[in-house]
Amino acid sequence: MSEHAARGALRPGSAADIFRLQEIERNAATLFRGWPGIDTSALTSVIALSDHLHAIEQGLSMVMAVDGELVGFAIGDMQGEDAYLRELDVALAHQQRGYGARLVNAFVAAAQAKQVRHIYLATFRTPPWNAPFYARMGFREVARADYLPWMNELEASQAAFLDLSTRVFMRLD
Ligand SMILES: CC(C)(COP(=O)(O)OP(=O)(O)OC[C@H]1O[C@@H](n2cnc3c(N)ncnc32)[C@H](O)[C@@H]1OP(=O)(O)O)[C@@H](O)C(=O)NCCC(=O)NCCS
Repeated sequence: MSEHAARGALRPGSAADIFRLQEIERNAATLFRGWPGIDTSALTSVIALSDHLHAIEQGLSMVMAVDGELVGFAIGDMQGEDAYLRELDVALAHQQRGYGARLVNAFVAAAQAKQVRHIYLATFRTPPWNAPFYARMGFREVARADYLPWMNELEASQAAFLDLSTRVFMRLD
């Protein structure tokens, strides 16, 4: 573990964290600037307060603090018997120190403690911090023919602002 990774402290998220988590999400999204095929204007909105509260209630909100300051989070929710990792962000100044991987692992542990069937996420195919990163953590692409109804619904709701050919659903196997 790097010196940085050792410094970060993980804990469950709370309602008082949410506005800072929304700031982190906006800041982290600037990483996509200039990445081919991704329209960053589509990435300016943030996870709604109600979705954060729902994740907290379900025990699927994890945050990372460094020297008392929040620097990242992973949140999700239940989709039937499965858990869905809805959002993962680390503030730009704190990236590539292992915090993202630790947040994913903490989310997976929280989901597994709930006896979920599978853990899913949706991400971009090509940036190294998206699908390739999750693949290294054990997530595998879900074939379109295997999409569950909620996945089709999620994609349909995103079609207006995301090029779906750049997106992939992944499942932890
Ligand atoms: C995804 C994200 C949370 C990862 O956070 P992180 O703290 O940098 O994660 P880690 O340090 O565990 O590293 C993740 C790996 O992604 C890759 N990566 C991360 N940032 C990268 C960059 N700027 N350029 C190239 N590769 C990068 C690296 O392979 C890295 O591993 P390494 O540092 O061992 O080489 C962060 O990049 C982020 O907030 N991105 C913007 C929002 C986003 O894409 N969220 C996920 C949507 S599904």
